[in-house]
Amino acid sequence: MPCVIPYTPRPLQRRFHEQRTRFCVLLCHRRFGKTVAAVNDLIREALRRGGEDWRAAYAAPFLGQAKAVAWDYCRRFAGALPGTRFLESELVCILPNGARIRLVGTENADALRGLYLDDLVLDEPADMERQVWSQVFRPMLADRQGRALFCGTPRGTDNLLYDVWQESGADTSGLWSRFRFPASVTGYLPGAELAAARRAMDESEYRQEFECSFAAALRGSYYAALLDQAESEGRITRLAPDPALPVHTAWDLGMDDATAIWFFQAEPSGAWRMLDYYESGGEGLAHYARILRGKAAPAGSGAPGDLPFLAGRGFVYGQHIAPRDIRVRELGTGQSRLESAAALGIRFSVAPGLPLADGIDATRRRIPRLWFDAEHCARGIRALRAYRRQWRRHGEATGPLHDWTSHAADALRYAATGFRPDMAAGTAAPARARTGYDMFGEDSGGRP
Ligand SMILES: Nc1ncnc2c1ncn2[C@@H]1O[C@H](COP(=O)(O)OP(=O)(O)OP(=O)(O)O)[C@@H](O)[C@H]1O
Ligand SMILES: [Mg+2]
Repeated sequence: MPCVIPYTPRPLQRRFHEQRTRFCVLLCHRRFGKTVAAVNDLIREALRRGGEDWRAAYAAPFLGQAKAVAWDYCRRFAGALPGTRFLESELVCILPNGARIRLVGTENADALRGLYLDDLVLDEPADMERQVWSQVFRPMLADRQGRALFCGTPRGTDNLLYDVWQESGADTSGLWSRFRFPASVTGYLPGAELAAARRAMDESEYRQEFECSFAAALRGSYYAALLDQAESEGRITRLAPDPALPVHTAWDLGMDDATAIWFFQAEPSGAWRMLDYYESGGEGLAHYARILRGKAAPAGSGAPGDLPFLAGRGFVYGQHIAPRDIRVRELGTGQSRLESAAALGIRFSVAPGLPLADGIDATRRRIPRLWFDAEHCARGIRALRAYRRQWRRHGEATGPLHDWTSHAADALRYAATGFRPDMAAGTAAPARARTGYDMFGEDSGGRP
């Protein structure tokens, strides 16, 4: 006789149960029913595929939390199946077929090393150490090709939940799936309840907790809300280069600092395809010229020996855009970097020297027309989201904080202010005819 779990999934919970793949991210508003869905997904899998040696773990950031939220659900849903046993002291639930589900806290995840898992739930991974996944749980799934579900509510972008959300978006193998269910879509919470929560919280907290916004936790961020919008409109995705369009680059050239480069294509419609992002520090211009050459190599071709991480992408270059200070002569050589770059085959056009606030404004107007490749632009996107205002002690904003996020943001600002579509239109056809190794863009024509 088939076992029946006393659980009637809500429609979106059902969609998750039916469509999830081996690795899955379930991003939902508070009180959606994530934990209930996750526990039932484990129980169902245990009954379908389990046997004496089948093992699963439900992990919360702390053991006390796992016990407080999931133990009752296990008892309620698995307890209805005749023959289920509960080892209360170990927080293990043994199903009638012998399959075991164990509740754990990741605060001492190291204790779990050495075991294997057929199935795993990480509930609220935004509050877990990243290594818990990469070093402890992921290897435990390897023997038996176990599944993993990450379910939670966003909490900014610097954590495991955001990492796996990005990874699932960039996945091309079909291993990963992901679901995003904000309160405005699910309708699971009454309108009056949401309105009351909204009054009690500030807008960004509300967007985080109920609208699944990764941006909300970042106060003072310039672009995070726009990137959230890009995410929800499906503009952070997998993008292949369009072979008919040249690839432009926009640079923030660091002296002692990092150098950042965006690689993008401008469609005739005005949309830009952000294909790639590269950042490094402590390297001379020759290094970046090699990076450009490497990415110009045919797609799938091997990397040059000294740059093992680099794969050819078949880029054919158009404009190269740099900030104004590239014209400054360097003390040592008496040459400007504009001249040094030209000697390496990169002819830059110089972005106009607008006030910073105007540049940020132009970038804000540009982002709604950007599409990003989730995989190759991951670091740049992360930096753009986190780029934010600096506050004085008395609370007034002073301008952008200069930190690891500035390079990606500055390079994009130069793209937004310095790109010249009139020139791009003319470069498409000849660009295709050039060899992949020729990096000459159009010259700036000596603009001031
Ligand atoms: N399919 C369902 N049928 C009936 N009630 C449900 C169902 N799914 C969830 N619930 C109820 O909704 C409430 C929230 O469920 P759950 O704890 O799973 O939500 P959550 O998304 O994990 O919340 P939190 O954000 O607080 O962790 C609980 O009272 C639970 O019993
Ligand atoms: Mg929960």
